[in-house]
Amino acid sequence: MDSTPILQVDGLSLRYGGVHAVQGVKFAVRRGTCFAILGRNGAGKTTTLRALMALGPKPEGEIQFDGRPTVGWKSYEIARAGVAFVPETRGIFPSLTVRENLVLASRPGNIAADERWTLDRAFDLFPRLRERLDNGGGQLSGGEQQMLSIARALLTNPKLLLLDEPTEGLAPVVVQQLRDALARVKQTGLTIVLVEQNLQVALSLADEMIVLGKGLVRWGGHRDEFESATDVRDTWLSI
Ligand SMILES: Nc1ncnc2c1ncn2[C@@H]1O[C@H](COP(=O)(O)OP(=O)(O)OP(=O)(O)O)[C@@H](O)[C@H]1O
Ligand SMILES: [Mg+2]
Repeated sequence: MDSTPILQVDGLSLRYGGVHAVQGVKFAVRRGTCFAILGRNGAGKTTTLRALMALGPKPEGEIQFDGRPTVGWKSYEIARAGVAFVPETRGIFPSLTVRENLVLASRPGNIAADERWTLDRAFDLFPRLRERLDNGGGQLSGGEQQMLSIARALLTNPKLLLLDEPTEGLAPVVVQQLRDALARVKQTGLTIVLVEQNLQVALSLADEMIVLGKGLVRWGGHRDEFESATDVRDTWLSI
């Protein structure tokens, strides 16, 4: 088993105009784990994820994915190297059917044939999508769109899955379904970076985490340590 982190971020900084959206962000994600990025609105969570995907302005600092520095790469090159991104906006094609959305996303990646995500495996994870196969993406509920967006990302057969607030704005029962599905995805051994404001969801999935506040890493550590870090919660998470 390769023990070097699949993702290493060091000194990541990004500015919009004169404002530092993230500053000197550093973290490492071990293979096969779930890593959460927590923080309030405007803390820099989305900016960090987008920087990993080379979306937005070029960042300062270093990003190493799977042993290679990726700052300066194009988004499609990062995707091809095995990083899949589920944005807050979900990024599905509303005018295409569920089936078309899934088929278009599918590619073998660099994954052994018997470990690959297929349409059948995606339906096993999200049975709802099978029922909605011939519906347009735009006809789906918010929860179904999120399922479709995650399924599309999985069908690219990535090595690393980036999720930006997958449960945001969804009903509690759907939040639970998504949480359970992500737990199953984690069990397959896929590495996940999860941005999540639902602390219960984050803590039930993440092995390690950082807390961002105003663009800086305010805390980092293991989930078990986080349980007792009440000052971090009070200062950088609670509203
Ligand atoms: N395109 C942009 N232009 C200017 N400022 C931006 C832009 N995108 C983000 N920002 C600013 O950068 C900071 C970090 O934003 P970011 O979207 O990364 O936060 P976030 O942690 O994802 O918040 P949320 O929980 O609301 O999604 C904020 O101050 C935000 O206003
Ligand atoms: Mg965000």
